[in-house]
Amino acid sequence: MAISKLHLLFLLSVTLSLYRPVLSDIDEEDNLLAGINSYRTSLNLTTLTKIENAECLAEEIADQFKNQPCTNTTGSASVPGTEPGFPNYPNLLKKCHLNITATRDGVIMPACVPSLDALLVLNNFTKSQYSKNLNDSKFTGIGIGSDNNWIVVVLTTSTPEGGFSPATNSEEGLTFGRLLFLFLVSFFYMFF
Ligand SMILES: *[C@@H]1O[C@H](CO)[C@@H](O)[C@H](O)[C@H]1NC(C)=O
Ligand SMILES: *[C@@H]1O[C@H](CO)[C@@H](O)[C@H](O)[C@H]1NC(C)=O
Ligand SMILES: *[C@@H]1O[C@H](CO)[C@@H](O)[C@H](O)[C@H]1NC(C)=O
Ligand SMILES: *[C@@H]1O[C@H](CO)[C@@H](O)[C@H](O)[C@H]1NC(C)=O
Ligand SMILES: *[C@@H]1O[C@H](CO)[C@@H](O)[C@H](O)[C@H]1NC(C)=O
Repeated sequence: MAISKLHLLFLLSVTLSLYRPVLSDIDEEDNLLAGINSYRTSLNLTTLTKIENAECLAEEIADQFKNQPCTNTTGSASVPGTEPGFPNYPNLLKKCHLNITATRDGVIMPACVPSLDALLVLNNFTKSQYSKNLNDSKFTGIGIGSDNNWIVVVLTTSTPEGGFSPATNSEEGLTFGRLLFLFLVSFFYMFF
């Protein structure tokens, strides 16, 4: 009895320690969303609603940036137009079930802040070149993703060209089928 309780406690602490980094990332993202929305409110603009596909894209882009160091020319301090493009952007879109035409009017704003300090992060969006996007009524939706010292905000519009509505093709079904197949194959190898 005592052993199984210890065992449970051990499992619980492992689970908690695994989840903590994820939780703190989400806190950063929620803080930034709240900060951006109060900035919008102070400008008499509508608040931005979370768009799942935009959040997916933001996470993917943060993942691309995560190993780049913060410098005074990265992220919100970069000269507009000099940000590195992503040769695999079409793949990132595909991962998030997005069609490039549904993202054309959206904007992607990466920022690099050591340890994602909450106030610096907010200032990197509201007190930089990015603020003009936040002060634009054409944007109605938002997705935030973060990884390491990078946090990425994607803004979406309510038009078809920026609404980030999912692509309508059978890609998802195929991917799910492939996952199921892989699962079955590994199951087979494990037990037979
Ligand atoms: C927002 O609206 C209020 C009331 O309509 C007005 O007093 C205030 O000046 C406006 N603020 C901005 C930034 O437009
Ligand atoms: C960026 O940092 C470098 C080296 O630390 C410095 O020489 C440069 O002046 C800085 N640039 C800006 C725009 O602050
Ligand atoms: C994206 O959507 C448009 C219009 O719905 C369609 O014409 C185009 O072929 C699609 N592109 C891709 C890559 O799926
Ligand atoms: C953005 O974050 C950096 C830290 O990476 C900080 O040095 C800089 O002051 C911030 N920029 C603004 C406009 O707050
Ligand atoms: C926001 O945009 C409005 C209209 O374009 C402009 O008058 C105002 O100064 C801007 N405010 C900020 C803080 O950028």
